[in-house]
Amino acid sequence: MRIAIGSDHAGYELKERLKKYLVTRGHEVIDKGCVSTESNDYPDFSEAVALEVANKSCEYGIVICGTGIGVSIVANKVPGIRSALCLSKEMAYLARAHNDANVIALGARIKLIDEVEDIVITFITSSFEGGRHKKRVEKLKTIEEKFRCKQ
Ligand code: RB5
Repeated sequence: MRIAIGSDHAGYELKERLKKYLVTRGHEVIDKGCVSTESNDYPDFSEAVALEVANKSCEYGIVICGTGIGVSIVANKVPGIRSALCLSKEMAYLARAHNDANVIALGARIKLIDEVEDIVITFITSSFEGGRHKKRVEKLKTIEEKFRCKQ
């Protein structure tokens, strides 16, 4: 699987750890930065990951900041992105099964309920259930279209 990953300074160490983990499991990981723990701005890296997913260059995206909130807000501004902040395997599973989320947001400074590797693996291996959830995701897309800037 081809996965884009990006973080700000607060998420840098977790990004590096997840990158190694995913590569050892045979995934292709596209690192969109950052490159150190030097202070930077989370929108830059989250947007870059979201674009990789929106243009279908990557199947999923992983965005990380201190809380996971900032990067998730950013990713959700990009048309086609459904980013979910996940603290547990259950949230990761449901984000895929019910919301068809394509980006997972993680908080490096937040206490997670499960191991972060398990949360990420649950996310990338779970499928959208469709059925009644399909109609709801279609409604998300309708809202996105309604407010999309006409260029
Ligand atoms: C950086 O200090 C912090 O604000 C950032 O990582 C993130 O948590 C923002 O949502």
